Amino acid sequence: MSEPRRLSFPKEKIKVLLLEGIAPSARERLAQEGYENVVALPRALEGDELHRELARAHMVGIRSATRLDAAAIAAAERLIAVGCFCIGTNQVDLEAAARRGVAVFNAPHSNTRSVAELVIAECVALLRGLCDKSAAAHRGEWRKSARDSHEVRGKTLGIVGYGHIGSQVSILAEALGMRVLYVDVVPKLPMGNAQQLAALDELLPRADLVTLHVPEDPSTRDLIDARRLGLMRPGACLINASRGSVVDVDALARALRERKLLGAAIDVFPREPGSNDEPFESPLRGLDNVILTPHVGGSTLEAQHNIGIEVASKLAAYSDHGATTGAVNFPQLALSPNPRAHRVLHVHANRPGVLGAINQAVADAGANILGQHLQTTPELGYLVMDVDRETSSELRTRLEQVPHTIRARILY
Ligand code: NAI
Repeated sequence: MSEPRRLSFPKEKIKVLLLEGIAPSARERLAQEGYENVVALPRALEGDELHRELARAHMVGIRSATRLDAAAIAAAERLIAVGCFCIGTNQVDLEAAARRGVAVFNAPHSNTRSVAELVIAECVALLRGLCDKSAAAHRGEWRKSARDSHEVRGKTLGIVGYGHIGSQVSILAEALGMRVLYVDVVPKLPMGNAQQLAALDELLPRADLVTLHVPEDPSTRDLIDARRLGLMRPGACLINASRGSVVDVDALARALRERKLLGAAIDVFPREPGSNDEPFESPLRGLDNVILTPHVGGSTLEAQHNIGIEVASKLAAYSDHGATTGAVNFPQLALSPNPRAHRVLHVHANRPGVLGAINQAVADAGANILGQHLQTTPELGYLVMDVDRETSSELRTRLEQVPHTIRARILY
């Protein structure tokens, strides 16, 4: 039997541009999926150079320093996807990308374990005054004393936000013999023996250590303010490795200075320096038993490695099968490959009448549809059709002519 005719764009011609020293795991993952035409640069590009390179690329990988604004996306005529090999996607004009049918992916959870480990280390460090004792010893001071030093075993950890990171912290904390209480805005299945409480105000007076793992949004702005700091146990500690806006740092500095709290470990701040060359200013500087770290909760080589794999896998899955799981600006379709069919991907503006026109195109092409998936956002529609190999090419051409079509692709 002869091989069925392949209609997808040949993989060896798909050009992937990776900027900003993305972890080698990304390239390795792409190579495993057959993407060998990969150019990896150690730096960000900008201006004309960026536009020139983008014009040749089908997929691009960036971190936080490359600005993909509307002009850059307009210059990227062949681009089908952007991979942000990081958490944030602010550096990309997501709407402009969506308008041109460019799916944008990121890696929101590859550094979950790194943050959880830091938090556990901080639980131990805070209850032993570790950082202050170490700094004193470096200065030649010998502070041998059990004062304010405690084991974490048997202590109660209060977790605020029981998502990816909060639930990992919960597992590790129980392994150390801690009791775990948590709150979340939605009911969450407890890990191990952890217990969900109904309200934050109920959790705060019951915890020896409170750790915050909520997103930044209006509901979490100054979630821990002066009133709530007042609800915490005398001698308790606060850990924040979520977002700087979640804690009123002036109120926290007061509580620490007045010795209402034993200590705090803060990784994120309302105002963070834009680069390592800028000074760090905070009312928390110089206070006893306060661990300050420069937003490094998720910054480990392991996390970078995992981010490389996660985002490269998402790019390959989109290019190979049309799967958009985890896309931040696109309707999400979790699709597995269907090698028995040809797959037509159709991205269109979400306007009345488009689906009717698509159905008409299908009828006109006499296409035999084996499977159909549609997902929409208010702006975009993403339709994936698995069609009989005999009719797929004809159908793609007709679909390209449907009004409000942004992009049509055919796979396999
Ligand atoms: P996630 O989305 O998996 O979990 C957040 C949880 O908080 C969800 O279960 C949600 O229902 C809950 N939540 C939302 N609003 C709440 C409220 N008002 N009160 C109580 N619970 C609430 O997020 P993930 O991955 O666990 O990340 C948590 C935070 O950690 C985020 O702010 C993220 O930006 C930050 N982060 C910080 C890093 C660092 O380097 N320090 C690295 C990675 C993430």
